[in-house]
Amino acid sequence: MTLPHQSRQRLLYFYVSAVAVGAAIALVSTAWNQEWDLSTRLVNGLIVILALALVAELSSVKMHIGTSTMSIVHIPLIASVFLFPPFLAMIIGAATLLVVEALVRRKPIIKIVFNISKEILALGVAASVFYALGGHHSVDRFDVEPLPLVGAAIAYSTATSMAVIFAVSLSETLDFGETWLRVYGGSLVYDVFSTPLPAFLAYLYVWKELFGVVALAVPLFVVRHIYVQNLRLEQSGRELLELMVKNIEARDPYTSGHSQRVAQYARVVAKEAGISFRHVEQIATAALLHDVGKTYEEYGALIRKEGKLTPDEKRLLQSHPVRSAELVSTISTLQGAIAKAVRHHHENFDGTGYPDGLSGDDIPIGARVIMIADTLDAMTTDRPYRQALPFERVLEEVRRFAGKQFDPRLADIVLRSQTIRRLVSVASQAALQAAPIAFNRAPPSKPERAVI
Ligand SMILES: [Fe+2]
Repeated sequence: MTLPHQSRQRLLYFYVSAVAVGAAIALVSTAWNQEWDLSTRLVNGLIVILALALVAELSSVKMHIGTSTMSIVHIPLIASVFLFPPFLAMIIGAATLLVVEALVRRKPIIKIVFNISKEILALGVAASVFYALGGHHSVDRFDVEPLPLVGAAIAYSTATSMAVIFAVSLSETLDFGETWLRVYGGSLVYDVFSTPLPAFLAYLYVWKELFGVVALAVPLFVVRHIYVQNLRLEQSGRELLELMVKNIEARDPYTSGHSQRVAQYARVVAKEAGISFRHVEQIATAALLHDVGKTYEEYGALIRKEGKLTPDEKRLLQSHPVRSAELVSTISTLQGAIAKAVRHHHENFDGTGYPDGLSGDDIPIGARVIMIADTLDAMTTDRPYRQALPFERVLEEVRRFAGKQFDPRLADIVLRSQTIRRLVSVASQAALQAAPIAFNRAPPSKPERAVI
Protein backbone atom coordinates (compact mmCIF):
# COMPACT_ATOMS: atom_id res chain seq x y z
CA MET A 1 0.00 0.00 0.00
CA THR A 2 1.36 3.45 -0.90
CA LEU A 3 0.84 6.19 1.68
CA PRO A 4 0.36 9.81 0.62
CA HIS A 5 3.46 12.02 0.92
CA GLN A 6 2.22 13.93 4.00
CA SER A 7 1.37 10.80 5.99
CA ARG A 8 4.72 9.30 5.10
CA GLN A 9 6.46 12.46 6.28
CA ARG A 10 4.52 12.39 9.56
CA LEU A 11 5.42 8.73 10.04
CA LEU A 12 9.07 9.54 9.38
CA TYR A 13 9.10 12.31 12.04
CA PHE A 14 7.40 9.98 14.49
CA TYR A 15 9.97 7.27 13.75
CA VAL A 16 12.95 9.64 14.20
CA SER A 17 11.47 10.95 17.49
CA ALA A 18 11.03 7.38 18.77
CA VAL A 19 14.68 6.53 17.90
CA ALA A 20 15.86 9.76 19.60
CA VAL A 21 13.85 9.03 22.78
CA GLY A 22 15.24 5.47 22.81
CA ALA A 23 18.80 6.84 22.50
CA ALA A 24 18.26 9.36 25.31
CA ILE A 25 16.94 6.61 27.61
CA ALA A 26 19.94 4.39 26.73
CA LEU A 27 22.38 7.23 27.52
CA VAL A 28 20.75 8.19 30.82
CA SER A 29 20.46 4.60 32.06
CA THR A 30 24.10 3.76 31.24
CA ALA A 31 25.38 7.09 32.64
CA TRP A 32 23.73 6.07 35.92
CA ASN A 33 25.98 3.00 36.21
CA GLN A 34 29.07 4.72 34.83
CA GLU A 35 32.25 4.71 36.95
CA TRP A 36 33.68 8.27 36.69
CA ASP A 37 37.16 7.54 38.02
CA LEU A 38 38.87 7.14 34.61
CA SER A 39 42.44 5.83 34.25
CA THR A 40 44.92 7.64 31.96
CA ARG A 41 45.09 4.55 29.75
CA LEU A 42 41.31 4.65 29.31
CA VAL A 43 41.27 8.39 28.51
CA ASN A 44 44.08 7.88 25.96
CA GLY A 45 42.11 5.01 24.45
CA LEU A 46 39.01 7.20 24.13
CA ILE A 47 41.02 9.89 22.31
CA VAL A 48 42.72 7.43 19.91
CA ILE A 49 39.52 5.53 19.02
CA LEU A 50 37.53 8.78 18.63
CA ALA A 51 40.23 10.18 16.33
CA LEU A 52 40.21 6.99 14.24
CA ALA A 53 36.41 7.00 14.06
CA LEU A 54 36.43 10.65 12.90
CA VAL A 55 38.99 9.98 10.16
CA ALA A 56 37.06 6.89 9.02
CA GLU A 57 33.71 8.73 8.96
CA LEU A 58 35.16 11.79 7.19
CA SER A 59 36.59 9.57 4.47
CA SER A 60 33.27 7.72 3.93
CA VAL A 61 32.00 7.27 0.40
CA LYS A 62 28.67 8.46 -0.95
CA MET A 63 26.66 5.68 -2.50
CA HIS A 64 24.64 6.13 -5.66
CA ILE A 65 21.34 5.10 -4.04
CA GLY A 66 19.51 7.67 -1.98
CA THR A 67 21.76 9.47 0.46
CA SER A 68 23.33 6.47 2.14
CA THR A 69 27.05 6.53 2.79
CA MET A 70 29.37 3.61 3.17
CA SER A 71 32.33 3.86 5.53
CA ILE A 72 34.60 1.84 7.76
CA VAL A 73 33.61 3.82 10.86
CA HIS A 74 31.87 0.73 12.27
CA ILE A 75 35.28 -0.83 12.97
CA PRO A 76 36.53 1.67 15.62
CA LEU A 77 32.99 2.10 16.97
CA ILE A 78 32.44 -1.61 17.58
CA ALA A 79 35.98 -1.82 19.01
CA SER A 80 34.95 0.84 21.55
CA VAL A 81 32.30 -1.59 22.88
CA PHE A 82 35.09 -4.09 23.64
CA LEU A 83 37.35 -1.48 25.25
CA PHE A 84 35.14 0.98 27.14
CA PRO A 85 32.07 1.01 29.39
CA PRO A 86 28.82 1.22 27.31
CA PHE A 87 28.15 4.88 28.15
CA LEU A 88 31.58 5.95 26.85
CA ALA A 89 31.28 3.75 23.72
CA MET A 90 27.94 5.46 22.96
CA ILE A 91 29.47 8.90 23.59
CA ILE A 92 32.26 8.12 21.08
CA GLY A 93 29.60 7.13 18.49
CA ALA A 94 27.52 10.25 19.21
CA ALA A 95 30.56 12.58 19.17
CA THR A 96 31.80 11.17 15.84
CA LEU A 97 28.45 11.67 14.17
CA LEU A 98 27.92 15.10 15.78
CA VAL A 99 31.25 16.44 14.49
CA VAL A 100 30.89 14.97 11.00
CA GLU A 101 27.16 15.48 10.34
CA ALA A 102 26.61 18.81 12.11
CA LEU A 103 29.95 20.63 11.88
CA VAL A 104 31.50 19.26 8.67
CA ARG A 105 28.63 18.12 6.43
CA ARG A 106 26.03 20.51 7.91
CA LYS A 107 23.16 18.10 7.34
CA PRO A 108 19.53 18.95 8.15
CA ILE A 109 18.72 18.70 11.84
CA ILE A 110 16.40 15.69 11.38
CA LYS A 111 19.23 13.69 9.79
CA ILE A 112 21.71 14.71 12.50
CA VAL A 113 19.30 13.70 15.27
CA PHE A 114 18.50 10.41 13.53
CA ASN A 115 22.09 9.43 12.79
CA ILE A 116 23.37 10.24 16.29
CA SER A 117 20.44 8.45 17.96
CA LYS A 118 20.75 5.42 15.69
CA GLU A 119 24.46 5.16 16.51
CA ILE A 120 23.84 5.39 20.27
CA LEU A 121 21.16 2.69 20.09
CA ALA A 122 23.22 0.39 17.84
CA LEU A 123 26.22 0.63 20.19
CA GLY A 124 23.89 0.07 23.16
CA VAL A 125 22.46 -3.06 21.49
CA ALA A 126 25.99 -4.30 20.61
CA ALA A 127 27.17 -3.76 24.22
CA SER A 128 24.11 -5.59 25.64
CA VAL A 129 24.73 -8.59 23.34
CA PHE A 130 28.46 -8.47 24.21
CA TYR A 131 27.77 -8.67 27.96
CA ALA A 132 24.92 -11.18 27.58
CA LEU A 133 27.31 -13.55 25.75
CA GLY A 134 29.91 -13.29 28.52
CA GLY A 135 32.13 -10.43 27.24
CA HIS A 136 33.88 -7.88 29.53
CA HIS A 137 35.14 -4.52 28.29
CA SER A 138 38.68 -3.56 29.24
CA VAL A 139 41.57 -1.41 28.00
CA ASP A 140 44.00 -3.49 30.06
CA ARG A 141 43.10 -7.05 29.08
CA PHE A 142 41.68 -8.48 25.86
CA ASP A 143 39.08 -11.23 26.14
CA VAL A 144 39.53 -13.49 23.09
CA GLU A 145 36.24 -15.41 23.45
CA PRO A 146 34.87 -15.35 19.87
CA LEU A 147 31.14 -15.62 20.71
CA PRO A 148 30.67 -12.21 22.45
CA LEU A 149 32.97 -10.50 19.89
CA VAL A 150 31.12 -11.83 16.85
CA GLY A 151 27.72 -11.46 18.54
CA ALA A 152 28.35 -7.77 19.26
CA ALA A 153 29.53 -7.07 15.68
CA ILE A 154 26.46 -8.78 14.18
CA ALA A 155 24.13 -6.99 16.64
CA TYR A 156 25.64 -3.61 15.71
CA SER A 157 25.37 -4.21 11.92
CA THR A 158 21.83 -5.51 12.22
CA ALA A 159 20.68 -2.60 14.40
CA THR A 160 22.22 0.12 12.18
CA SER A 161 21.06 -1.42 8.91
CA MET A 162 17.50 -2.00 10.19
CA ALA A 163 17.31 1.59 11.47
CA VAL A 164 18.60 3.08 8.19
CA ILE A 165 16.56 0.82 5.91
CA PHE A 166 13.37 1.61 7.82
CA ALA A 167 14.06 5.36 7.49
CA VAL A 168 14.91 5.10 3.75
CA SER A 169 11.90 2.93 2.98
CA LEU A 170 9.68 5.47 4.78
CA SER A 171 11.14 8.47 2.96
CA GLU A 172 11.50 6.94 -0.52
CA THR A 173 8.40 4.68 -0.68
CA LEU A 174 10.43 1.55 -1.26
CA ASP A 175 9.54 -1.59 0.58
CA PHE A 176 11.81 -2.86 3.35
CA GLY A 177 13.29 -5.83 1.44
CA GLU A 178 13.97 -3.82 -1.70
CA THR A 179 15.68 -1.06 0.30
CA TRP A 180 17.82 -3.60 2.13
CA LEU A 181 19.01 -5.11 -1.14
CA ARG A 182 19.64 -1.74 -2.75
CA VAL A 183 21.42 -0.16 0.20
CA TYR A 184 23.21 -3.14 1.75
CA GLY A 185 22.98 -6.03 -0.74
CA GLY A 186 26.21 -5.16 -2.55
CA SER A 187 28.19 -4.54 0.63
CA LEU A 188 27.30 -7.79 2.40
CA VAL A 189 30.52 -9.53 1.35
CA TYR A 190 32.62 -6.65 2.74
CA ASP A 191 30.60 -6.60 5.97
CA VAL A 192 31.23 -10.31 6.55
CA PHE A 193 34.89 -9.83 5.62
CA SER A 194 35.32 -6.95 8.07
CA THR A 195 33.56 -8.64 11.05
CA PRO A 196 36.81 -9.68 12.87
CA LEU A 197 38.41 -6.23 12.41
CA PRO A 198 36.86 -4.44 15.43
CA ALA A 199 38.08 -7.25 17.72
CA PHE A 200 41.52 -7.07 16.11
CA LEU A 201 41.63 -3.30 16.60
CA ALA A 202 40.68 -3.65 20.29
CA TYR A 203 43.30 -6.37 20.71
CA LEU A 204 46.01 -4.19 19.11
CA TYR A 205 45.10 -1.25 21.31
CA VAL A 206 45.31 -3.35 24.49
CA TRP A 207 48.63 -4.79 23.29
CA LYS A 208 50.46 -1.78 21.87
CA GLU A 209 48.19 1.26 22.44
CA LEU A 210 48.71 3.97 19.80
CA PHE A 211 51.28 1.97 17.81
CA GLY A 212 48.86 -0.97 17.54
CA VAL A 213 46.09 1.30 16.22
CA VAL A 214 48.38 2.82 13.60
CA ALA A 215 49.45 -0.70 12.51
CA LEU A 216 45.80 -1.57 11.84
CA ALA A 217 44.84 1.78 10.35
CA VAL A 218 46.87 1.04 7.20
CA PRO A 219 45.06 -2.21 6.29
CA LEU A 220 41.78 -0.53 7.32
CA PHE A 221 42.24 2.10 4.68
CA VAL A 222 43.09 -0.63 2.17
CA VAL A 223 39.63 -2.12 2.86
CA ARG A 224 38.14 1.31 2.37
CA HIS A 225 40.00 1.62 -0.93
CA ILE A 226 38.43 -1.65 -2.15
CA TYR A 227 34.98 -0.29 -1.18
CA VAL A 228 35.62 2.91 -3.13
CA GLN A 229 36.93 1.15 -6.25
CA ASN A 230 33.97 -1.18 -6.34
CA LEU A 231 31.45 1.62 -5.93
CA ARG A 232 33.12 3.78 -8.57
CA LEU A 233 33.14 0.91 -11.05
CA GLU A 234 29.43 0.26 -10.51
CA GLN A 235 28.64 3.95 -10.74
CA SER A 236 30.60 4.53 -13.95
CA GLY A 237 28.83 1.52 -15.54
CA ARG A 238 25.46 3.05 -14.67
CA GLU A 239 26.52 6.49 -15.93
CA LEU A 240 27.71 5.00 -19.24
CA LEU A 241 24.31 3.42 -19.77
CA GLU A 242 22.61 6.73 -19.05
CA LEU A 243 24.93 8.46 -21.49
CA MET A 244 23.95 6.00 -24.23
CA VAL A 245 20.27 6.64 -23.54
CA LYS A 246 20.68 10.44 -23.54
CA ASN A 247 22.43 10.09 -26.88
CA ILE A 248 19.38 8.51 -28.51
CA GLU A 249 16.94 10.89 -26.90
CA ALA A 250 18.92 13.91 -28.06
CA ARG A 251 17.94 12.97 -31.63
CA ASP A 252 14.25 12.98 -30.92
CA PRO A 253 12.84 15.80 -28.75
CA TYR A 254 9.44 14.08 -28.50
CA THR A 255 10.84 11.10 -26.62
CA SER A 256 12.96 13.01 -24.11
CA GLY A 257 12.92 11.05 -20.85
CA HIS A 258 11.05 8.18 -22.54
CA SER A 259 13.57 5.45 -21.70
CA GLN A 260 13.79 6.48 -18.04
CA ARG A 261 9.99 6.44 -17.76
CA VAL A 262 9.75 3.06 -19.50
CA ALA A 263 12.36 1.70 -17.06
CA GLN A 264 10.38 3.13 -14.16
CA TYR A 265 7.05 1.60 -15.35
CA ALA A 266 8.78 -1.71 -16.19
CA ARG A 267 10.24 -1.90 -12.68
CA VAL A 268 6.79 -1.37 -11.12
CA VAL A 269 5.00 -3.86 -13.40
CA ALA A 270 7.73 -6.51 -12.93
CA LYS A 271 7.71 -6.02 -9.17
CA GLU A 272 3.92 -6.24 -8.96
CA ALA A 273 4.06 -9.41 -11.10
CA GLY A 274 6.08 -10.99 -8.28
CA ILE A 275 9.35 -11.24 -10.23
CA SER A 276 12.50 -11.59 -8.07
CA PHE A 277 14.45 -8.41 -7.22
CA ARG A 278 17.51 -9.37 -9.31
CA HIS A 279 15.40 -10.08 -12.38
CA VAL A 280 13.38 -6.88 -11.85
CA GLU A 281 16.64 -4.91 -11.98
CA GLN A 282 17.65 -6.72 -15.21
CA ILE A 283 14.28 -5.87 -16.75
CA ALA A 284 14.64 -2.22 -15.71
CA THR A 285 18.11 -2.08 -17.33
CA ALA A 286 16.76 -3.68 -20.53
CA ALA A 287 13.88 -1.18 -20.49
CA LEU A 288 16.34 1.70 -20.21
CA LEU A 289 18.24 0.41 -23.26
CA HIS A 290 15.37 -1.04 -25.32
CA ASP A 291 15.75 1.45 -28.19
CA VAL A 292 19.50 2.04 -27.96
CA GLY A 293 19.98 0.72 -31.54
CA LYS A 294 18.13 3.81 -32.81
CA THR A 295 21.41 5.71 -32.43
CA TYR A 296 22.46 4.19 -35.80
CA GLU A 297 22.39 6.78 -38.56
CA GLU A 298 19.94 4.79 -40.74
CA TYR A 299 17.12 5.40 -38.22
CA GLY A 300 17.76 9.15 -37.78
CA ALA A 301 15.50 10.33 -40.62
CA LEU A 302 12.75 7.81 -39.69
CA ILE A 303 12.66 8.97 -36.09
CA ARG A 304 12.35 12.63 -37.09
CA LYS A 305 9.78 12.00 -39.84
CA GLU A 306 6.38 13.45 -38.90
CA GLY A 307 4.24 11.88 -41.64
CA LYS A 308 3.40 8.23 -42.32
CA LEU A 309 6.27 5.79 -42.96
CA THR A 310 6.50 3.97 -46.32
CA PRO A 311 6.49 0.11 -46.18
CA ASP A 312 10.28 0.09 -46.75
CA GLU A 313 10.86 2.62 -43.98
CA LYS A 314 8.59 0.61 -41.69
CA ARG A 315 10.61 -2.56 -42.42
CA LEU A 316 13.84 -0.71 -41.68
CA LEU A 317 12.49 0.70 -38.42
CA GLN A 318 11.41 -2.80 -37.39
CA SER A 319 15.03 -3.92 -37.42
CA HIS A 320 15.83 -1.64 -34.45
CA PRO A 321 15.21 -4.26 -31.70
CA VAL A 322 17.80 -6.55 -33.31
CA ARG A 323 20.31 -3.72 -33.69
CA SER A 324 19.63 -2.63 -30.10
CA ALA A 325 20.18 -6.17 -28.78
CA GLU A 326 23.44 -6.45 -30.76
CA LEU A 327 24.67 -3.17 -29.32
CA VAL A 328 23.65 -4.14 -25.77
CA SER A 329 25.46 -7.50 -26.16
CA THR A 330 28.76 -5.73 -26.69
CA ILE A 331 28.79 -5.14 -22.92
CA SER A 332 29.47 -8.56 -21.39
CA THR A 333 27.38 -7.98 -18.24
CA LEU A 334 24.32 -7.17 -20.37
CA GLN A 335 24.40 -10.37 -22.44
CA GLY A 336 21.77 -13.06 -21.82
CA ALA A 337 18.45 -12.04 -20.22
CA ILE A 338 18.94 -8.28 -20.75
CA ALA A 339 19.89 -8.57 -24.44
CA LYS A 340 16.99 -11.02 -25.03
CA ALA A 341 14.47 -8.68 -23.40
CA VAL A 342 15.73 -5.88 -25.68
CA ARG A 343 15.58 -8.04 -28.84
CA HIS A 344 11.96 -9.09 -28.25
CA HIS A 345 10.43 -5.87 -26.92
CA HIS A 346 8.20 -5.54 -30.02
CA GLU A 347 6.88 -9.12 -29.99
CA ASN A 348 3.10 -9.25 -29.59
CA PHE A 349 1.55 -11.79 -27.24
CA ASP A 350 -0.51 -13.24 -30.15
CA GLY A 351 2.62 -13.81 -32.27
CA THR A 352 2.07 -10.92 -34.74
CA GLY A 353 5.03 -8.83 -33.58
CA TYR A 354 8.65 -8.62 -34.66
CA PRO A 355 11.53 -9.52 -35.09
CA ASP A 356 10.87 -13.27 -34.56
CA GLY A 357 7.07 -13.51 -34.31
CA LEU A 358 7.27 -15.21 -30.90
CA SER A 359 4.03 -15.66 -28.97
CA GLY A 360 2.80 -16.17 -25.38
CA ASP A 361 5.31 -17.51 -22.87
CA ASP A 362 7.94 -17.98 -25.62
CA ILE A 363 8.47 -14.21 -25.41
CA PRO A 364 10.91 -13.53 -22.55
CA ILE A 365 9.06 -12.07 -19.55
CA GLY A 366 11.31 -9.00 -19.59
CA ALA A 367 10.31 -8.27 -23.20
CA ARG A 368 6.60 -8.65 -22.34
CA VAL A 369 7.02 -6.19 -19.46
CA ILE A 370 8.88 -3.67 -21.66
CA MET A 371 6.21 -3.97 -24.40
CA ILE A 372 3.48 -2.82 -22.02
CA ALA A 373 5.67 -0.20 -20.26
CA ASP A 374 6.80 1.24 -23.61
CA THR A 375 3.20 1.45 -24.84
CA LEU A 376 2.05 3.10 -21.62
CA ASP A 377 4.58 5.89 -22.07
CA ALA A 378 3.92 6.24 -25.80
CA MET A 379 0.19 6.72 -25.14
CA THR A 380 0.54 9.07 -22.17
CA THR A 381 3.00 11.53 -23.77
CA ASP A 382 2.69 13.84 -26.77
CA ARG A 383 3.95 12.56 -30.11
CA PRO A 384 4.37 14.52 -33.39
CA TYR A 385 1.16 12.99 -34.77
CA ARG A 386 -1.12 13.04 -31.72
CA GLN A 387 -1.61 14.40 -28.22
CA ALA A 388 -1.25 12.32 -25.07
CA LEU A 389 -4.34 10.23 -24.28
CA PRO A 390 -6.14 10.64 -20.95
CA PHE A 391 -5.27 7.85 -18.50
CA GLU A 392 -8.77 6.29 -18.63
CA ARG A 393 -8.47 5.99 -22.45
CA VAL A 394 -5.06 4.38 -21.99
CA LEU A 395 -6.57 1.79 -19.66
CA GLU A 396 -9.29 1.08 -22.25
CA GLU A 397 -6.56 0.42 -24.83
CA VAL A 398 -4.67 -1.84 -22.42
CA ARG A 399 -7.88 -3.83 -21.79
CA ARG A 400 -8.67 -3.96 -25.53
CA PHE A 401 -5.25 -5.29 -26.52
CA ALA A 402 -4.77 -7.71 -23.58
CA GLY A 403 -4.00 -11.15 -25.03
CA LYS A 404 -3.31 -9.60 -28.48
CA GLN A 405 -0.46 -7.15 -27.99
CA PHE A 406 0.02 -7.58 -24.24
CA ASP A 407 0.46 -10.48 -21.85
CA PRO A 408 -3.05 -10.55 -20.24
CA ARG A 409 -1.58 -11.08 -16.75
CA LEU A 410 0.62 -7.97 -17.09
CA ALA A 411 -2.30 -6.00 -18.60
CA ASP A 412 -4.32 -6.91 -15.52
CA ILE A 413 -1.53 -5.62 -13.26
CA VAL A 414 -1.41 -2.28 -15.14
CA LEU A 415 -5.20 -1.94 -14.93
CA ARG A 416 -5.15 -2.37 -11.15
CA SER A 417 -1.85 -0.69 -10.22
CA GLN A 418 -2.16 2.48 -8.14
CA THR A 419 1.59 3.10 -8.49
CA ILE A 420 1.36 3.13 -12.31
CA ARG A 421 -1.59 5.56 -12.11
CA ARG A 422 0.43 7.86 -9.85
CA LEU A 423 3.61 7.69 -11.97
CA VAL A 424 1.74 8.33 -15.22
CA SER A 425 -0.01 11.39 -13.76
CA VAL A 426 3.34 12.78 -12.52
CA ALA A 427 4.89 12.22 -15.99
CA SER A 428 1.95 13.86 -17.81
CA GLN A 429 2.08 16.94 -15.57
CA ALA A 430 5.85 17.27 -16.04
CA ALA A 431 5.41 17.01 -19.82
CA LEU A 432 2.72 19.73 -19.78
CA GLN A 433 5.01 22.12 -17.88
CA ALA A 434 8.01 21.33 -20.10
CA ALA A 435 6.18 21.87 -23.43
CA PRO A 436 5.58 25.58 -23.99
CA ILE A 437 5.60 25.21 -27.80
CA ALA A 438 2.55 23.77 -29.55
CA PHE A 439 3.61 21.02 -31.96
CA ASN A 440 2.39 21.15 -35.52
CA ARG A 441 0.53 17.88 -35.53
CA ALA A 442 -0.77 15.76 -38.38
CA PRO A 443 -4.46 14.80 -37.95
CA PRO A 444 -4.82 11.83 -35.56
CA SER A 445 -5.30 8.48 -37.28
CA LYS A 446 -7.18 5.50 -35.89
CA PRO A 447 -4.70 3.21 -34.16
CA GLU A 448 -4.47 -0.41 -35.29
CA ARG A 449 -2.61 -1.25 -32.11
CA ALA A 450 -2.10 0.47 -28.80
CA VAL A 451 1.47 1.39 -29.81
CA ILE A 452 1.08 4.36 -32.10
FE1 LIG B 1 11.38 -0.05 -29.74
